[in-house]
Amino acid sequence: MNREPYLLPVTIVAVIGFAALAGWFLKVPSDKTQVGYRGIGMEVNTNRKTSAALAALNAVPEPQPPLEAAEMEGPRASEVYKNVKVLGHLSEAQFNRVMAAITEWVSPEQGCAYCHGEDGNFESDAPYAKVISRRMFEMTQYINGDWQKHVGQTGVTCYTCHRGKNVPENIWFDNPERNAGRMVGNANGQNKAGVKLAAFSSLPVDPLSKFAGGKEHPIRVQDQVAITKDFDKTIQDAEWTYSLMMHMSQSLGVNCTACHNTSTFGNWQQSTPQRVSAWHGIRMVGDLNAKFLDPLKDAYPAARLGPTGDAPKANCATCHQGVQKPLYGANMLKDYLASLTPPAK
Ligand code: HEC
Ligand code: HEC
Ligand code: HEC
Ligand code: HEC
Repeated sequence: MNREPYLLPVTIVAVIGFAALAGWFLKVPSDKTQVGYRGIGMEVNTNRKTSAALAALNAVPEPQPPLEAAEMEGPRASEVYKNVKVLGHLSEAQFNRVMAAITEWVSPEQGCAYCHGEDGNFESDAPYAKVISRRMFEMTQYINGDWQKHVGQTGVTCYTCHRGKNVPENIWFDNPERNAGRMVGNANGQNKAGVKLAAFSSLPVDPLSKFAGGKEHPIRVQDQVAITKDFDKTIQDAEWTYSLMMHMSQSLGVNCTACHNTSTFGNWQQSTPQRVSAWHGIRMVGDLNAKFLDPLKDAYPAARLGPTGDAPKANCATCHQGVQKPLYGANMLKDYLASLTPPAK
């Protein structure tokens, strides 16, 4: 007599489910690189299944053909052309070479017309994309000149962020939904499903508004001594820190252990050198958004702005796009030093 008719099917489903899960766990092919002392689990894990896609995303385009020494001589772009404000120190050939490069990096489909319009009026500042690009040149020169503590000699080009697209893959806006949908209380910007910036966690949805937006907020939330009455950090502060950390980990495709010994997150002696790079990175992103990207809001068409009318901004993923060094550390800048590093004054 079968008195529990559902028992058999439930058991079968459970067994298959377990087997499938176990198989799935066993099958994730990953490589581990040890980055701290042995036995404390400080390692960087890479998933071989996703590394092929990442390698394709981070392949570097061929540089424009190099110039002869003679082509760098002669009249400057500021004398040859009518409306050149940032790249005036280049020779005509250097100027045209970098125009060809940015066309490939930013608007390969639309060509020169994306920034200069269809009528070939190169001196006109009417197309907004040209006005934005001029500021982008200044931002790129500034990153390569003033933020070597983060970008080193590798530096960045337009391609680091744009990758052949008009609008970079990873941008962010102020988020007015932070507390929406609640009758009472303050959600403190968290418990929203499916928000990419918080790495799909239930943590605050836009950590960067507190840190990388140029606003000061305490990131260090651990006390150094047990039970002091002076400690003023709240659990909410800790949640914002963790949300930022999730964003950083996801942007670089690493675990917390790439930077921390997780038994003592705050301890710098037991952290990797990458944590120091990341410290500068947090400040750099805040600086770029405050100095360059946010103030561009009047230059964009309305459709490009966020729900509160703010300009599109950068985060760690804008450059890193899932890997620990953007483009796996390839140095594209060396072929464009004259145009993408600050001109000598
Ligand atoms: C992504 C935007 C962008 C693209 C694409 C682009 N340009 Fe430009 N171009 C600019 C900017 C910005 C300036 C102004 C630079 C400055 O002020 O220093 C400029 C200026 C010029 C000028 C100087 C005009 C004058 O008299 O002042 C010429 C010529 C020019 N571009 C040619 C080209 C050509 C040819 C192409 C395609 C191969 C091209 N550009 C593609 C952004 C772009
Ligand atoms: C640090 C990352 C970064 C670098 C480096 C960078 N950009 Fe951008 N760029 C952005 C972001 C973020 C935006 C805003 C995206 C948007 O327009 O919605 C943007 C927007 C633009 C736009 C406007 C696109 C549109 O249609 O709205 C142009 C054109 C552009 N960049 C050109 C350049 C050029 C040329 C360079 C190199 C001289 C460059 N960018 C370097 C991050 C970058
Ligand atoms: C790429 C390096 C990097 C990764 C990956 C990273 N962190 Fe951090 N973490 C930092 C830096 C840098 C600081 C200090 C920031 C500051 O002071 O501005 C920090 C600070 C912290 C703090 C505060 C420590 C204190 O002194 O109070 C905690 C907690 C923390 N991280 C947890 C995590 C967790 C959890 C993860 C994984 C989800 C993680 N971190 C991933 C770089 C990293
Ligand atoms: C403007 C582009 C850009 C942005 C934005 C950016 N980075 Fe980087 N980052 C770089 C470049 C380029 C390098 C490689 C530097 C080198 O080769 O020395 C780098 C290197 C690093 C490294 C060192 C990796 C290693 O293996 O040595 C860490 C860690 C890092 N970035 C973390 C961050 C974090 C965290 C953020 C956001 C808070 C961030 N970066 C934002 C461009 C960027």
